[in-house]
Amino acid sequence: MDVSVIGLGRVGLPLALCFADAGLSVLGVDKDADRLEAVRAGRMPFKEPGADELLARTTLELSAHAADAAQADAIVLTLGTPSFSHIEIDMSAVRSVLDDLLPHLRPGHTIVLRSTIAPGTTEFVAGYLERQRGLRAGVDVHVAHVPERIATGKFLQEIDTLPCIVGAVGGPESGEHVAQVFGVFDAPIVQTTPVQAELAKIWANILRYTHFALPNLLMMDCEQYGANVFEVIDLINRDYPRGGIAQPGFTAGTCLRKDFTFSEERSNAPGMLLAVSRVNESVPHFLVQGMKRRSPDATLNGRKVAVLGLAFKGDTDDERDSLAHKLIRLLERELADVAVHDPLVASPTQPLEVALHEAQVVVVAANHEAFVPAETRAAIGALASPDALVVDPWNHLGSGQVFAFADELIPLQIEVRRS
Ligand SMILES: NC(=O)c1ccc[n+]([C@@H]2O[C@H](COP(=O)([O-])OP(=O)(O)OC[C@H]3O[C@@H](n4cnc5c(N)ncnc54)[C@H](O)[C@@H]3O)[C@@H](O)[C@H]2O)c1
Repeated sequence: MDVSVIGLGRVGLPLALCFADAGLSVLGVDKDADRLEAVRAGRMPFKEPGADELLARTTLELSAHAADAAQADAIVLTLGTPSFSHIEIDMSAVRSVLDDLLPHLRPGHTIVLRSTIAPGTTEFVAGYLERQRGLRAGVDVHVAHVPERIATGKFLQEIDTLPCIVGAVGGPESGEHVAQVFGVFDAPIVQTTPVQAELAKIWANILRYTHFALPNLLMMDCEQYGANVFEVIDLINRDYPRGGIAQPGFTAGTCLRKDFTFSEERSNAPGMLLAVSRVNESVPHFLVQGMKRRSPDATLNGRKVAVLGLAFKGDTDDERDSLAHKLIRLLERELADVAVHDPLVASPTQPLEVALHEAQVVVVAANHEAFVPAETRAAIGALASPDALVVDPWNHLGSGQVFAFADELIPLQIEVRRS
């Protein structure tokens, strides 16, 4: 085996397939028997454009045991790295796999951390291997962080174009061994230190998380002042060279929702990024309050609310860490009668017609292309209650209002960029 990939999730499986497609012999490891069974049967367990074709034309060896990964010269860890609720990286999957691998590691092995990790983790792993097995990183083995920076849905396109950051313990000479593995792709390789690779990855996501918190906060301010957030954003950005504020919307998902905590756990400005998180996390609550304010009796008790979109963002089937779920929980706590439609996710949802039927509130929770604006507006007009409130923080339907009544769904003539 040339390379083993441990953790065949949304990052690991497409990566393993791309390695195999580039001509490497690849062992894929996952402890989830259903996942292995799906891959064995040639079935992608989630949607990633182009991955079905790759799965059909490549061959992966598969195993349920991390120890088997040591058969390959290079071992790439693509395990989940969540955050504990008290703001600290949860490295239990990485630790557990390292312990399984320890007895089987040998000089010459390359160990790559592809997962997103807190600053200092690569050095910790190098130190752990030396302490437990006497294998010195940069001398006996090669240990590096090569962060995954690809966005869901763009894997096959970006694996060959996004600069591939390699932060190897022991410097670029050791990094060259890692570069040989990732050099099978067309992307340029950029050598740096492990901690700089770790910081670059998490701060790219922190930048994005903050970038979207600002329009979300502005949306709440606009409600307070009776202003229209889309018009204010247009005023900020229109022909202004220092504009560039993004559009509001649900900002979450497994990466953005937790990667900031990897900085926040040892922050020099405790609370700053936590505040960013609280802004994004409060958007569902803000929308629920807005719905209540616009209800005839100021309550959602017994009112039918149709939620369109369960995924964490548009055009993905990934609903992990989606704010749509939080919105639904909050609506249920208001005793609303919640109906959900999402044509992409694996969770069972209702057909559009059933969800919209006599709905008194319709929320666009994910800006899927499948919700074609003209068609969705027509469906709301035909099926929902005539005085339905349409809640659309993305302005996906083009009303130019976060809260509009169904008969106001006339597109405003302002240019709105999708974020
Ligand atoms: N999803 C993304 O778009 C994305 C993008 C960039 C970076 N990342 C980072 O990449 C990492 C992986 O993310 P993901 O979304 O692919 O996670 P995931 O949860 O989809 O995949 C992790 C896989 O590892 C498997 N696993 C867990 N413990 C194991 C063990 N002991 N042995 C073998 N397999 C085991 C799980 O069964 C699962 O299939 C995370 O650090 C994440 O922050 C994710």
